[in-house]
Amino acid sequence: MKKGLVLILAAILILTFSWAAHAIHETIPAETQATLPGPDAVKLYEYIMKSNPYTDWQLFPGKGRMYEGKQPHGAFLTTYVNNDAYFSIRDKKGMADGCIIVKENYTSDKHLNSVTVMYKIKGYSPDTGDWFWAKYETVGKVVASGRVSACIMCHEVKKDNDYIFSGNIMK
Ligand code: HEC
Repeated sequence: MKKGLVLILAAILILTFSWAAHAIHETIPAETQATLPGPDAVKLYEYIMKSNPYTDWQLFPGKGRMYEGKQPHGAFLTTYVNNDAYFSIRDKKGMADGCIIVKENYTSDKHLNSVTVMYKIKGYSPDTGDWFWAKYETVGKVVASGRVSACIMCHEVKKDNDYIFSGNIMK
C-alpha cells in the first residue's frame, strides 16, 4: 500500500517536471527567436504587435512616456526601441541591421492617433540609411510604408544622425 503511494507521488513529480520543462521550451523561444520580417508593412505590424510586442520594449533612451512632440507626429509621444536599437543608441555605434523604433502618436487630449515606425534593413535602401518607414492608424491600417518620401524629406535633415531626431545617437 505504502509502496503504491510512493510510486504515485513519484509519477506525479515526474509528470510535473516534464510539463514544466516542456512549458519553458514552449514559451522562451517564441518570445526571443521570432524571425524579423522583411520590408513588408503588414508583417512588420504583426511582428511588433504579436511576435515581439513593442509595448514590452525599452523606451527610447532619455525619453519618458507621453513626452511632448511636434508636428507632424503628435502633441504627445511615447517611443519604444527593440533591443538592437536600444544598444545601438546607448553605445552610440550606429543603428545596426534589425533596429526597430516604434513611436506612438497621441492627440492633445492623449488619444492614440497613429503609430510610426523606422525599421533598419541592411541593403534595403542604401541611399537613405536603409530605413523602412511605416505609418499605421490604430487597429493596424497601413497609411504609408516603404521608402516613403514624405518621411525621408523631413528626417533627411538628421542624416548625420542616421535620420533620427529624438537623441544624439552617434559618437
Ligand atoms: C515634417 C517633419 C517630419 C515628417 C514628415 C516625419 N517626421 Fe518622423 N519625426 C520628426 C520629428 C521632429 C521627430 C522627433 C519627435 C517629435 O518631436 O515629434 C520625429 C520622430 C520620428 C520617430 C522616432 C525616431 C526619431 O527620428 O526621433 C519615428 C519612428 C518617426 N519619426 C517616423 C516617421 C515616419 C514613419 C514618417 C512618415 C510617415 C515620419 N516620421 C515623417 C519629423 C518628421
